[in-house]
Amino acid sequence: METVQIFDTTLRDGEQSPGFSMNREEKLQLARQIEQLGVDIIEAGFPIASPGDLEATRAVAAEIKHCTVAALARAKQDDVDAALRGLEPAAKPRLHLFLATSDLHLKYKLRTTREQAIDQIAKMVRFGKQHCDEVEFSAEDASRTEIDYLSQAVLAAVESGATIINLPDTVGYSTPDDYAQIFRDVRARLGAHPNVVLSAHCHDDLGLALANSLAAIDAGARQIECTINGIGERAGNTSLEELAVALQVRQDRYPVTTNLQLEKLYPTSRMLSTITGISVPPNKAVVGANAFAHEAGIHQDGILKNPLTYEIILPEKVGVPARRLVLGKHSGRNAFRSRLAELGYETTDSEIAECYRLAIVRADEDKEIGDRDLISIIHQVRRGQTSAPANSGPSAATVR
Ligand code: KIV
Ligand code: ZN
Repeated sequence: METVQIFDTTLRDGEQSPGFSMNREEKLQLARQIEQLGVDIIEAGFPIASPGDLEATRAVAAEIKHCTVAALARAKQDDVDAALRGLEPAAKPRLHLFLATSDLHLKYKLRTTREQAIDQIAKMVRFGKQHCDEVEFSAEDASRTEIDYLSQAVLAAVESGATIINLPDTVGYSTPDDYAQIFRDVRARLGAHPNVVLSAHCHDDLGLALANSLAAIDAGARQIECTINGIGERAGNTSLEELAVALQVRQDRYPVTTNLQLEKLYPTSRMLSTITGISVPPNKAVVGANAFAHEAGIHQDGILKNPLTYEIILPEKVGVPARRLVLGKHSGRNAFRSRLAELGYETTDSEIAECYRLAIVRADEDKEIGDRDLISIIHQVRRGQTSAPANSGPSAATVR
């Protein structure tokens, strides 16, 4: 099976979004964890952005030895010089150069022509290649670039020494079919360079970042750029954990592999939230608090009989400590019985029926039934009984 390289840009694209900036120590801590997670490339920063970013990039480059460390630069001399300084201590450095290629960006943002942009790309890739063995070129706004011109720009980068070509959907505009077609077209125009790796970098403005990344894999991309918890500019980037799990669960559909250690996904997600103080939405796929929580009675009943009925991946596979059966008004008797048993209370059918009736009344008022509520309910039920309870169970005070 072919391997898809995972390029993590949490420390660069992720870090440059509001609320997510990190200092040198925080970046280092996260970089160590991301290396453990098994990514292939860590983009450590954009060194021209600030002296702090340059210093943090150097610190990551000095410490991370198993992964390639990338530093970003616009196709400009000062940027490239700063990125090369950032990469000096790296065991496996990668210079990541970019320049916008869409007419919109060329005309309004860069105020340059198509020809001048190609000259600039060729010149800076050639210069970069003299100082760094591995050069990646990104055609910013590739998904809104006219395909013939995109191919010319990409060819100029490859002929100047770039071996990885990234085709970003910078503004999250593409659809899966459109994005896949760009990869097929560019691959066809790179016929004489079969070893060039094509990379996808998707933003989630239309909620399509993961779908577009998967479509790119279908169309031959063998590097995906993504971030922990999907953080990144505006709506964020492709979420690394969603991509990892999609490739694992749907290997039938995407016969590729990665070097990721899936059980490190949840701890890495938690570390990012702790460092930045920004929590993950509860309904976030894979790492959200509700990703493995079940409240509906029918679902709880299925999960208790066989978790695969309502879970396509087991929580422990991605490092989630345990699934949660949430007791609320949608829950069924089986879930109450099972939770009570876990708390040490074996119950009779009549006790469970009464317990369930009282719990539903309370759930209507309080929304969720916690362990203490459940214990107080079972005690209430038992106190109201004339015959001796089946099993008196531990006292409420011993149960947390
Ligand atoms: O979204 C984008 O185009 C980028 C590039 C700099 C790779 O982040
Ligand atoms: Zn981006």
